[in-house]
Amino acid sequence: MHVRRKLVAGNWKMNGSLGQLSELQPIAEAAKAAGGVDVAICPPFTLIAPAVTRSGGLMIGAQDCHAEESGAHTGATSAAMIKEAGGRMAIVGHSERRAEQQESDAAVRAKAQRALRHGLVTIVCVGESAIDRAAGDHLPVVGRQVAESLPDGWEDGELVIAYEPIWAIGTGKVATAADIAEMHTAIRADLVRRYGDTGMRLRILYGGSVKADNAAEIFAVADVDGALVGGASLTAAQFVPIIEAASKS
Ligand code: 13P
Repeated sequence: MHVRRKLVAGNWKMNGSLGQLSELQPIAEAAKAAGGVDVAICPPFTLIAPAVTRSGGLMIGAQDCHAEESGAHTGATSAAMIKEAGGRMAIVGHSERRAEQQESDAAVRAKAQRALRHGLVTIVCVGESAIDRAAGDHLPVVGRQVAESLPDGWEDGELVIAYEPIWAIGTGKVATAADIAEMHTAIRADLVRRYGDTGMRLRILYGGSVKADNAAEIFAVADVDGALVGGASLTAAQFVPIIEAASKS
């Protein structure tokens, strides 16, 4: 029996400010009080270092990391830089980056490998479009992303998978419990086929319009080991009930 501790990670995307870091303290306090759940916030790069000093012990992470160690990559940020700033996590392959920066599965895998090598908790995002789902292709599409975006082996860091159906991100449309169960079960089977027993230990998060009022139902689904939360992670008032739901599940 593998007991996977739930992870609730907030992805602030291109939102937030120094002033908004005042949300971290109440989130950290609520996380401690709830207990039994790992909580992280991934603000924009410029806020990582100040967030760490005001985190109250919350894990702070980045929303991307470059695949190379260093060099002539204007505008990019390396895993080593994230670590030096106090970051302990990196999200890679978010659908917004796959779309806006044309990141391929191979590029996402290279980023994940680099982040893991630096000991970061590395969340690799996968998820199908509305068109894929309407065509009934969601399982093979996500299966291919899982096959090609995840690294083959890693010694450091922790690999986490986030299933985020694109049509559920920022839309208020949540996948049904049955849809989430179908996908998470399929991803788990892929992970076990590929990594053996390690595949049972990897956490699979759901993301896409997770809110206070749907979190408990989502956390009750088999093989849902937490959530990657966008909009509702921006304020303690919205994020704390999600942490509490994870703690009770
Ligand atoms: P929302 O929670 O705003 O739908 O965003 C989900 C997401 O993309 C998290 O990475």
